[in-house]
Amino acid sequence: TIIDDAPGAQLPWGDPGFRLDPYPLYARVREEHPVYQDDDGAWVVSRYDDVMHFGKLPIMSIVEPADGAIGPWTAMANTVLSHDPPAHTGLRRHSNKWFTPKLVKEWVKYTAQAVNEALDSIGEDGVIDAHVDLGTIPTHNTMCRVMGLPDDDPIPAVEAIADAVNALSAVPTPEDIDRGVRGFEYMLERAQRMVDEKRKNPGEGMADALLAAVDRGELSERAALETITVFWASGGSNPAYLITTGMEEFARHPEVFHAYKSDPSVRSAIINEIVRLHPPELSFPRFPTEDVEIRGHRIPAGSQIRFMIGAANRDPEAFEHPEVFDYRRPPGASMNLSFGIGPHSCAGQVISRAEAEVIFTAIAERYDHVELVGEATHLYTDRARFFVSRPIKLS
Ligand code: HEM
Repeated sequence: TIIDDAPGAQLPWGDPGFRLDPYPLYARVREEHPVYQDDDGAWVVSRYDDVMHFGKLPIMSIVEPADGAIGPWTAMANTVLSHDPPAHTGLRRHSNKWFTPKLVKEWVKYTAQAVNEALDSIGEDGVIDAHVDLGTIPTHNTMCRVMGLPDDDPIPAVEAIADAVNALSAVPTPEDIDRGVRGFEYMLERAQRMVDEKRKNPGEGMADALLAAVDRGELSERAALETITVFWASGGSNPAYLITTGMEEFARHPEVFHAYKSDPSVRSAIINEIVRLHPPELSFPRFPTEDVEIRGHRIPAGSQIRFMIGAANRDPEAFEHPEVFDYRRPPGASMNLSFGIGPHSCAGQVISRAEAEVIFTAIAERYDHVELVGEATHLYTDRARFFVSRPIKLS
């Protein structure tokens, strides 16, 4: 195979400027080198049509071939994240039944209560941390409710998941790998304590159901532990990014906040546009089990392909004026890739969108203006985006 070394062909994964704002270089690569091979042999696919079509083919395995790198994520080897159908389908059933639209309506009552408590605590200056208080705490504690776990401090969980995701960089340093390993150690230890506690005091949540499946011999003890870890740790971090980028868009586009306030019929379209422009996970990897040809490039079985969500979501062939926040896009032209596609598409999609709607609605019912104040702090890698803090002022 030929490494595409034309100038500008390769994304500079480790470059801090690129990590801060990858979108200009995504645009260039998507236009000039929509399919290319990286120095490490992985293929990078950035056009919307290609990600949509090839990203969900049954030959696109999520399982890294045996001789591939063994990273911190082997800690989650017994979850949906590490299996293809049909084994994947069986595992996914254990969580899917907890996120039906009907149940989600119940769960988000708790989100509404939690966000209203956060809003009640705002002082006279109107300042609040959108990431911590409006994003992370209400969504993480909603997931604790789904699991049947007590509320807890979500910040260490969010930090640990950020460390784990950081290790998924295309160019991880030994320190990144080490932090990833420690992130999983922390999360698994927390999950083990929850399991021990549940064994003593059973309840009626998803964690209890997973342990009941262990008792029936349908799931291994380890698979239950890892699955509890995945949901407990995912329940706050990506949803918080959706909430925080949404608050930033409302601050930058007061007319959008006004539309959200005054017209409930546009709310889901506004949320969809926030999600399109701001995917927290910028790419997903797959390993084709057969040779595959994409735009004239023959990609051998077992290669790694990086499907670039962040680039595809702003492809001008799929979205007219892709950089513009336009929630009035025709529904057929508004499908974005932020929650992934195919069998591994996000298990938290329905609840995340519903949480965003109740959180934004609670804010819109009480306030007319959103302003950005102070500085936001972030953890940006070439693979994912998280906030640490994003102060805003509501009035
Ligand atoms: C995939 C959980 C929120 C983006 C997944 C998977 C799980 C999960 C378990 C793996 C599904 C599988 O392999 O079958 C959650 C939970 C969330 C949440 C519990 C919150 C309650 C989000 C949000 C986003 C997101 C807000 C982005 C806007 C993704 C993406 C994938 C994914 C892109 C696909 C990864 C891949 O195909 O390799 N999520 N998620 N998630 N999630 Fe989420």
